[in-house]
Amino acid sequence: MRTIAVYPGSFDPPTYGHLDIIERSSRVFSRVIVSVARNIRKDTMFTAAERMTMLRTLTRSFPNVEVDSFRGLLVEYVRVVDAHVVVRGLRAISDFEYEFQMAHMNKKLSPEVDTVFMMTGERYSYISSQIAKEIARLGGKIDDLVPPLVRERMLRKLGRKK
Ligand code: PNS
Repeated sequence: MRTIAVYPGSFDPPTYGHLDIIERSSRVFSRVIVSVARNIRKDTMFTAAERMTMLRTLTRSFPNVEVDSFRGLLVEYVRVVDAHVVVRGLRAISDFEYEFQMAHMNKKLSPEVDTVFMMTGERYSYISSQIAKEIARLGGKIDDLVPPLVRERMLRKLGRKK
């Protein structure tokens, strides 16, 4: 059976935690569509196009992974791309409440869509885009949080050299 999965998110910016989920999903599903949410928040560091470009470069080595974007309801997008599975990473109990609510809401909106959770690898469990941005803004080291390409772009946005 060919299973198409959508991995949606803000990816502002993509982190090693996201890449861990992408790599592992690509081994479980026949096709994984990493989809950048547009217009969720206005205060993003990167435009949707910039986030997609970074994700495309970072996932180049996975033949069954593609990068796209969506607006509006996730379940509507999932239907349009003919997928039935949404992948989400779970880092800690603190993620659970929000993810639980979202998965149930999506199930109510579209009963044929299932959300599959993947535990983020232990070494990535403390990483989030939010934390990476905060540390970068405050001049800290983000080498362990985001790939070099993302780090360079973040520093450029912040007008930092290193
Ligand atoms: O990376 P994030 O910010 O945790 O991703 C959240 C995202 C974009 C997956 C979620 O906010 C979403 O699906 N937004 C689309 C709008 C929608 O469908 N909302 C109802 C979900 S309950």
